[in-house]
Amino acid sequence: MAVVMLRKNSQAEEHQVYRRTGRIEDLEAQISSMFKRLRLAVIYGGNKSAEGAVIEPTGNPRSWKSYETVARDIAASMVRAGCKNVSLFPDDMRLGEMLREQDVHLAWLNTGGVQGQCSVAHAPAMMELFGIPYVGHDPMMAGILDSKHVFKRQLRSAGLPTATFAIVLPEGGEYVPEDDPVFMNAFGEAEGPFIVKPVSGRASLNVMYVEKRADLAAAVNDVYAKTRNFVLVEQYLGGAEYCVAIGGPVVSRGGKLERLDKPFVFSPLERVLDSDEKIFTSMDVKPISGERARLLDPVKDAKVRGEVEALALAVWRQLGIETLVRLDIRADANGKLHVLEANPKPDLKAPADGVTSLVSIGLSEFGMTYDDLIMSIFADRVDVLLSERRGTADRLIRLI
Ligand SMILES: Nc1ncnc2c1ncn2[C@@H]1O[C@H](COP(=O)(O)OP(=O)(O)O)[C@@H](O)[C@H]1O
Ligand SMILES: [Mg+2]
Repeated sequence: MAVVMLRKNSQAEEHQVYRRTGRIEDLEAQISSMFKRLRLAVIYGGNKSAEGAVIEPTGNPRSWKSYETVARDIAASMVRAGCKNVSLFPDDMRLGEMLREQDVHLAWLNTGGVQGQCSVAHAPAMMELFGIPYVGHDPMMAGILDSKHVFKRQLRSAGLPTATFAIVLPEGGEYVPEDDPVFMNAFGEAEGPFIVKPVSGRASLNVMYVEKRADLAAAVNDVYAKTRNFVLVEQYLGGAEYCVAIGGPVVSRGGKLERLDKPFVFSPLERVLDSDEKIFTSMDVKPISGERARLLDPVKDAKVRGEVEALALAVWRQLGIETLVRLDIRADANGKLHVLEANPKPDLKAPADGVTSLVSIGLSEFGMTYDDLIMSIFADRVDVLLSERRGTADRLIRLI
């Protein structure tokens, strides 16, 4: 086992640290030895109405969903991979007690949170507080990625393309764009069309296409009334829409681990829109199928595929993303690509009966199955924890 001992920390505890560049065979051996005793908990979104879930139910700026069925798919895949002890828990206020009672070693976060502002950050923040290593983004990254206004400012400062935008908070009553210096600075006299959407949303919910400037205020007031949060006004991009997934460099292919020389970019696809479909219809309404998502061909679509992949790598590197995201991208009328968002918790449902997910749809091109995808996410995260998170992964290291 390739163990590199680094310096002792101030409490004179020893932490074993593994190099991220370590041999992949060693990681494979560590994971299979870990699997003999590992107690893994897959966490899904807690329901604030459940008895004992919260002290007081409050609001949900982000549309709530439990994601429990997907958590079951992830858990089942981990069992097939050889992890014998996998349980499921909701991420409500009893979580710490549950994890302690069950003596859980590692959590897989498949939750958007229960309630409140920035709910996607709550589960990773709790894990850090409890000292439980987890598969998922750290709390700040989860919060940044789920807050389109913050994320877009990050893109801007990194020089990455994103639609012109104004972040507005119409707290004081009726919104008047002409009285809002932020809006005027971004859009001036622009007549539209615009997109008005929540800063923290999912599945196209409450995303509105606004043809004319005269209708903008009503749309902003409407989204604000539903979310009680900042509202994002964007330039409408009328070109084709794309998605791409990107994860860490450790991948599983045919059940065997490999270490790539860069992050793994996969499932680049065009989201096929009907001629009158201005906004991609929510997957809550129309499930993702082959007709709705067309994989970009490495030869025929080489140009746009290269651009989409380069954009994914640039976002990953510039923002310091560490685990799977799915980028939504849209072209403007001239074909120039813009990043719409990076989804911190892309749908990981197991493909079945002609219904799949935007991240799983392109796996076969790389000789990978759904189980390979789940193992890739797991193994890459374990690799990060063992090599770069000194002091946070001792619970795992003791299992090896
Ligand atoms: N600026 C924009 N121009 C054109 N279409 C947009 C724009 N912003 C969002 N959309 C449409 O709305 C959909 C949902 O927006 P998105 O930013 O991905 O939020 P979410 O998926 O979290 O609801 C996109 O898939 C796209 O079809
Ligand atoms: Mg989206």
